[in-house]
Amino acid sequence: MTSKFSRIGFILAAAGSAVGLGNIWKFPYVTGEYGGGAFVLIYLLAIAFIGISVFLAESVIGKISESNAVTAFEELAPKNKGLWKYAGFMVLSGLIILSFYSVVLGWIVNYIFISINSLPTDVKTAETTFTTLITQDIQTQIIFHTLIALSVVLIVLQGIKKGIEKANIILMPLLAIILALLLFYSFSLDGFSKAISFMFVPDWSKIDEHALLAALGQAFFTLSIGVGTILTYSSALPKNANFVKSSVLVAIVDTSIALIAGIIIFSFLFEAGAQSSGGPGLVFISLPLIFADWGMVGQVIAILFFIALAFAGITSAVSMIEPILMYFIERLKFSRVKATITCGLIFYIGGIIALLSMSTSYGEDLTFFGKNMFDWMDFITSSITLPLGGILCAIFVGYVMKKDTLEAHFLKFTTKGVFNAWYFLVKYVVPLSISILMLNKLGLLG
Ligand code: TRP
Repeated sequence: MTSKFSRIGFILAAAGSAVGLGNIWKFPYVTGEYGGGAFVLIYLLAIAFIGISVFLAESVIGKISESNAVTAFEELAPKNKGLWKYAGFMVLSGLIILSFYSVVLGWIVNYIFISINSLPTDVKTAETTFTTLITQDIQTQIIFHTLIALSVVLIVLQGIKKGIEKANIILMPLLAIILALLLFYSFSLDGFSKAISFMFVPDWSKIDEHALLAALGQAFFTLSIGVGTILTYSSALPKNANFVKSSVLVAIVDTSIALIAGIIIFSFLFEAGAQSSGGPGLVFISLPLIFADWGMVGQVIAILFFIALAFAGITSAVSMIEPILMYFIERLKFSRVKATITCGLIFYIGGIIALLSMSTSYGEDLTFFGKNMFDWMDFITSSITLPLGGILCAIFVGYVMKKDTLEAHFLKFTTKGVFNAWYFLVKYVVPLSISILMLNKLGLLG
């Protein structure tokens, strides 16, 4: 990146990237699908031991190289530069994620309008409203996906610093306040205690290798690691910025928001007697019900909530595309406009394929091996390319870069104990655990 962040600017951008639909839309529904408590526990362990280590690995690579992901690997590799540069192509994942992410953001914007018109008041209507949207209403989805794609493109064209940082300073606290209100409200529900035991009392029966990989994938997705986003953002950190503290702070904020969102959503679901395994519709079905229950006030809060969530999602969306743009701009000498339009078109078309694949009319043609394209995009990124990107970063810092260089960098900001712990994690724990999980999932381990 050409201009530098301030430290607080970096924290905001990284937190803006991390906090998004992954926390409020995805975390509750994957937790629901994998049966709650045990999944949450594995997810927390994955964040603490793998997620934060990879976050720091990406950050230190970006900070030392001060360049885009491809150049970073090429420059910092002492030998085999031509080979290592391919690790930087993890930035491609951003476009795949953005394809389906933009569609989901479109649903959110659609729910702003639903909140303005009328919220569904019972579970049945809430479910039909959502299912009709994603299976029948191709036109509405395309309109909102187009709107989101254009917004992302326009913001990215301006550079992220101007508009988006300002919007975030207002909207992220608003989102936090609304979540706090909702959490407070959920204390008063009978569903609350059920939600707590669902989320925090482990039920190991649903845990298999799929669940383990899903928890790992969710940890990567929610922290925005494995794509080069953190690497690229860190390349714009001032030399004296404490990247260790910032990284841990971002992870804590991100995890807290996911847990709070989960508690709220399950409290209400259980209160309303609905199922916890509702899939991607979970948020779109349960939250409108809470808001409807609150009458007029609820309607206003619903509108504000979906607006704030849309903005949280937009800051994440922008961060997915930035790493590949930097590659196009710095390496292929594209202008920012040309790079943005190229990438914009790719994820726009990707999004249309994703949304058609869920429709009743085209779903069958866009379903392969039992998964539709929307699910494939999610699966390929969360379960394969993000962990792979993470493993490459870990191996790169653990085995390729010089330990002294890294140590000197860390010791400016933290203790030797912290450095040693991190080094051990990236050298052994991260590569081993990720490769075992992936090989196992691919059925290669017996
Ligand atoms: N972390 C974001 C969320 O939870 C999604 C996201 C943004 C992302 N940038 C990313 C995921 C880069 C992977 C890589 O919604």
